[in-house]
This record gives sequence, C-alpha cells and structure tokens, in this order.
Amino acid sequence: MINPTNGLCGPVNLTNDQTLLFSKGNDQFFANRTASTGLGPYFVATGCGSCHSSDNRGHPFTILTRFGQTDSTGNKFLSQGGPQLGSANLPGLTPEQIPAGATSTRLIAPITAGVGFLELVPDSAILAMAAANCNNPDGVRGHPNYNTIPSYSMPLNGAIPRADGKYICRFGKKAAVYDLVEQVAAAYNHDMGITSSFMPYNPYNYLDQAAPTAPSVPEIDNNTFNSVVFYVRCLQTPIQRNAGDAAIQNGGALFVKIGCEVCHKQTLTTGYSSIAGLSHQAFHPFTDLLVHDMGPGLDDGYTEGNAKTAEWRTSPLWGLGLAPGVQGGSYYLMHDGRAHSIEQAIQMHAGEASVSAGRFKALSTTDQVAILKFLKSL
Ligand code: HEC
Ligand code: HEC
Repeated sequence: MINPTNGLCGPVNLTNDQTLLFSKGNDQFFANRTASTGLGPYFVATGCGSCHSSDNRGHPFTILTRFGQTDSTGNKFLSQGGPQLGSANLPGLTPEQIPAGATSTRLIAPITAGVGFLELVPDSAILAMAAANCNNPDGVRGHPNYNTIPSYSMPLNGAIPRADGKYICRFGKKAAVYDLVEQVAAAYNHDMGITSSFMPYNPYNYLDQAAPTAPSVPEIDNNTFNSVVFYVRCLQTPIQRNAGDAAIQNGGALFVKIGCEVCHKQTLTTGYSSIAGLSHQAFHPFTDLLVHDMGPGLDDGYTEGNAKTAEWRTSPLWGLGLAPGVQGGSYYLMHDGRAHSIEQAIQMHAGEASVSAGRFKALSTTDQVAILKFLKSL
C-alpha cells in the first residue's frame, strides 16, 4: 500500500521468499555508493534513491544531461563521452564537459512506482493505442519508439518485433529503453559509474584517458543486481486518494472530455506474469507508452531510438499529487522539471497536445480547478 504522507510504495502481494528479495533490492535502491564500493570514476549521483526520492519524481539537484544524438542514425559523440554527461567525478579527474557541437537534453527522474506494471503491457495493446491515434480529430499521432534491444534482454512476453528486428521500447522520457533489466543496468552504469556483467565498461572522460578496451570486474554482482530489478518491478502502483469526492470525479470526467485522456490513458492491463500480484491486472498509469510531438518549445535537439527531437513519451500521471511531498513542497514537471506547477505543465503542451491544452485554457475557473484537484488526487 502507498503511504499517503510520503508516497512511499510497498510491494504487490509477494510470497515470503519474494519479500526477502524485494527487501534486499529496497536496501540497495536507497543505499549510497562510494569509491570503495564501485562509484565512478564519472557519475551523476551516488544512489538510485537520491534521484527517485521515495520512488517518485526527482529534484533538479540530481538532473542528468545527455548529448550528441540528433536523429535515429546513432550518437555521433560516443568517443567523446556520450551519451551521458558524468557531471561528478572522483578526486583528481577532469570534470566531463559537453563537447562543442553536441546538442544536449536535461532529464529529471521520473516516478519509479508501478514500472513493473508498465513492463507487462503487451505490445499488441501499445500498437492498438497507436492505431487508434491515426484518425484522432485533435491531431494526436503517437507512435511506439522502436529501438535495438541489448543482447542480454530477453524479448518480453508477446513481443511484436518489426521486420528490421527492432522492438517496441517503453522506459525513459523518450521510451527508448526496452525493459527493466536494461533500465537498471544503464542506471548503474551511466548514473553511478557502477559496472555489472550486463554493462561491464566504466564511463570515461576522453580528456583524461582513452575508452577502456577490456571489461572491468562487475562492481555489482548478479544477485544484488537482480534484487534491484525485482524491487522496482514489484513496487505497488500509486493509488488515487479521495476518489469519491464530487469535484475530483467531475475533474476526472472533464479530463477525458477535453482530450487529455487520448494520451494519458487511464486504464491499461498487464499480460501474464509469474508474479501473481502483477499478472493480468488492470491499473491506472495515465500513459499510452507512445511518443508524441510536443511542439518546438519542448524540442531539445536530442533524441533516442526512432523518437524525433520534439517527441516525448506521455508521462504517467500517477503519484503526481504526492510528488511535492517528497521534493520540499514544489513541483518539477515535464522532462527537465521546467514546470513548477501542474498549470504550467499544461500550458507547455503544444504540438499534438495543442487542441486539448487549448480546451483546458477555455474552461471556466471552477472546471480548471476540478481538473487540477483530480490530478492532485492521483
Ligand atoms: C542521477 C539521477 C538518477 C539515478 C542515480 C538513477 N536514476 Fe533512474 N532515472 C533517472 C532519469 C533522469 C530517468 C529517465 C531516463 C531517460 O529518459 O532515459 C530514469 C529512469 C528510470 C526508470 C524508468 C522509469 C520510466 O517510467 O521509464 C527506472 C525504473 C529507474 N530509473 C530506476 C533506477 C534505478 C534502479 C536506479 C539505481 C540503480 C536509478 N534509476 C538511478 C534518474 C536517475
Ligand atoms: C498528445 C498527447 C498528450 C495530450 C493530449 C496531453 N498530454 Fe500531458 N503530457 C504528454 C507528454 C508527451 C508529456 C511529457 C512531456 C515532457 O516530458 O516534456 C506530458 C506531461 C504532462 C504532465 C507533466 C507530468 C510530469 O510528471 O512531469 C501533466 C501534468 C500533463 N501532461 C497533464 C495533461 C493534461 C491536464 C492534459 C489535457 C489538457 C494533457 N496532459 C494532454 C502528452 C499529452
């Protein structure tokens, strides 16, 4: 169950053995690494929990920067430390810098609660949501992000690859990451400088040294790594508060009526999982896992997979009202936290979301307040 004061999520229903594994992953998620436990040499933060505070959204203090990829042909700056900037480093090393000519984006941590449910949405359901967009009268044209998957990721249940061998990806702000194994391996490696058997090369700074040619001994062993994957996978979803309140119910109906729900899909259903608590469950993330063109204001000139530079994955809205409680009372919304209130986030919706954002603007104050109240109850 979600804790209504700090938003911290417990696990879905688990067996006793699974609960032990979850607890081990929980400890690791909130542990801080140091140089003696593998941190660095280049990193952004020292632990998962320092960015994903209480399993919810992040704070600008721990924002991360990626650079060097402008289209689907790949990153042109890999030999110069791309794709991610190690904004911190161990003593005695040269701080990494964005190379001249590289476009960059800043990403604030998204909510991690409920990601195990998102991982289990079948590709067929994602494709059906994209197909339904084709005739959308508001001009919504979301599409899945097809990307190459790492050699260590097993295709998910019911995966529908494209003829060119690319798979529908779903994690990260551009939906370029395939599954939670890839996400956690990349988080340890890029965000903390921790090598694993999945990503055995340490990040480096080309100003200090050449790219490592030999893999390093994993700085996290497979059992510990798997416990962290298990932890995020089994986190319970945030649960709506005060769902019976009349204004909140009215706000929910208006949210659908003005077209927000075309992208922020209220209800999705998981496929089969060997973890009973995750298997064949209806849940309420408010995302379609598709990427959408959000207009020039949100175009960072940086991309991943086949998403264009102005395209972003529809953010899940669950846990929204709990986010300020874990971030000193403020909101930091959209991919880089630039929106400091829900109203500002809505105002920044352009491109495919222009029509629904315009309808929000045209509503009476009472109706706008009802939608905001609804969003804060999520
Ligand atoms: C420096 C801050 C930072 C640290 C440390 C960090 N993350 Fe993240 N995390 C992010 C950001 C930013 C994203 C979005 C990345 C993207 O768009 O590709 C993200 C994405 C994720 C997601 C995907 C969520 C979604 O909805 O797509 C998961 C799961 C996750 N992180 C888990 C972890 C775990 C586990 C660790 C520790 C091993 C960790 N993170 C460490 C900032 C961080
Ligand atoms: C065309 C699809 C689409 C429509 C329609 C849409 N959104 Fe969004 N929404 C997005 C995307 C994509 C993002 C993420 C943008 C980013 O990360 O910069 C987002 C982000 C948000 C956020 C910020 C969430 C966070 O955690 O940072 C809020 C709040 C939000 N939308 C509310 C709404 C409301 C209210 C409406 C209706 C008025 C709406 N959206 C309509 C696609 C859409």
